[in-house]
Parts: sequence; structure tokens; C-alpha cells
Amino acid sequence: MKIIILNGPNLNLLGKREPEIYGSKTFEDYFEELKERFPGIDLSYYQSNIEGALIDKLHEVGFSYDGVVFNAGAYTHTSVGLGDAIKGIETPVIEVHISNVHAREDFRQVSYIAPNAKGIIAGFGLKSYDLGIQSFI
Ligand code: DQA
Repeated sequence: MKIIILNGPNLNLLGKREPEIYGSKTFEDYFEELKERFPGIDLSYYQSNIEGALIDKLHEVGFSYDGVVFNAGAYTHTSVGLGDAIKGIETPVIEVHISNVHAREDFRQVSYIAPNAKGIIAGFGLKSYDLGIQSFI
């Protein structure tokens, strides 16, 4: 089974960025843990701060991979283009968030990912990614 974790803008700063919200572990360290936890899954990881690069990656994996675990970061709340990309591909996408976006600011209550996602996981810290992977098993 081939699954990719896609991280959007500012998620390269995990570990340093607002640690009271997003924790103090880097995603690279957490990704090593995930690979150990799911040895039977062909797991890959891609991060970009650029909307178009995330769209390109969805197109690239979206007709051959079994699943995408996608944290679109702030683009979740703004990107019609990412929403359309998810609608246009065949691979199911799980929307994940580290924080519980529904307990935060009003502008985080909108998601352009959710209408086209298979499901949504939010608020479990980095474990949200683990739960996202499990949803494909
Ligand atoms: C986030 C929530 C978004 O609102 C925010 O812009 C992020 C991270 C999360 O994982 O909790 O960058 O997607």
C-alpha cells in the first residue's frame, strides 16, 4: 500500500513554530516514528509552502497511490485550487490537522479540502497523521 503524507505552508517549522499549539517535535523526527510503526506501508512525505507545488504533487500521486494524508495548513481555509485538485484525482484524501481547528478562530472554520476529502481528523496533535494512515488500513 502506497500512502503519502502531504504538508502545506509553515509545517516545515514544526518543532519551532508556536510549540504550545503544534508541539516541539520536528516532522522529520515524527516521520521516522511513523515509518517504524507502519513497516508494511510504503510511506512517503512531501512538504511545500507553495500552493502550486502541492497541486502538482496531488496530480503526480493522485492516480497511482492508495491514499493521501493531507495537512494543507492555512491553504485549507483559502484554496479553491487545492479543493479542485482533490476533486480531480482518484486517490482518496484524508484531511488532517494537528490542532482542533473548530476550537480556534472563525477563519479556520472554513475548509476547501473537506468537501472533497474522504474524512477529517483534527485535534490529536501529531497523532492526527497516525490516525489518518490507520484510516486506510
Ligand atoms: C493546521 C491548522 C491551520 O489552521 C493552520 O493554518 C496550520 C496548521 C493544523 O495542523 O492544526 O498551519 O493545519
